[in-house]
Amino acid sequence: MKIPDWRQDQQYLELVKDLLAKPELQRLQSIKQHHYSNRFDHSVRVSYYSYLLGKRWHLNTRALARGGLLHDLFYYDWDSQQMDFRTHAYVHAHIALNNAQKLTQLSPMEADIIVKHMFGATTQVPRYWESLIVSLVDDKCAVQEALSPKILLWKQKLQFK
Ligand SMILES: [Fe+2]
Ligand SMILES: [Fe+2]
Repeated sequence: MKIPDWRQDQQYLELVKDLLAKPELQRLQSIKQHHYSNRFDHSVRVSYYSYLLGKRWHLNTRALARGGLLHDLFYYDWDSQQMDFRTHAYVHAHIALNNAQKLTQLSPMEADIIVKHMFGATTQVPRYWESLIVSLVDDKCAVQEALSPKILLWKQKLQFK
C-alpha cells in the first residue's frame, strides 16, 4: 500500500501530538536504530503503519498509534551493550513500558502492545490483534530500515535498465 505522509494526517496527529511534543520522545531522534534510521523515525513509522492497518481493519486506532509510538521508548544503544539479542528483546520492551507509564496513562491494550512487541524473540504472546499488528509492523520496518541503502540501490539499478 502507498503510505501517505503522517505529518499531513490530522486524524493521526490528533492521537499522538501530545506525545510527539514531549522531550522524552524527541530525545529518540539522536539514537541510531537498525543501522540507517533513528529511534524516533522508526517509532513514528511503526505507529503510523499500524494505525493505517487498524483503520482499514476497524481495530483500535488510538491504541495502535500510541502503543506503536511508545514501543521502543528506551535510551541505551544495543550495539554498545554486552547483551545477547534475546535478553535485549525482553529487557527493552519492559523498560519502554516503564518509561511510557511515566509519560502517559496507558490503556491495558497499549501496555500489552508495548511489552509484547518482541513476540517471536520472546515467548510473551500478544493478547490483542493490535499487539500482534505492531509486532509484525515492527519486524517489517526493522528489515526495511536495515536494508534501506541496498533497496535504494536496487531501485536505481532497475530504473536504468
Ligand atoms: Fe523494540
Ligand atoms: Fe521497534
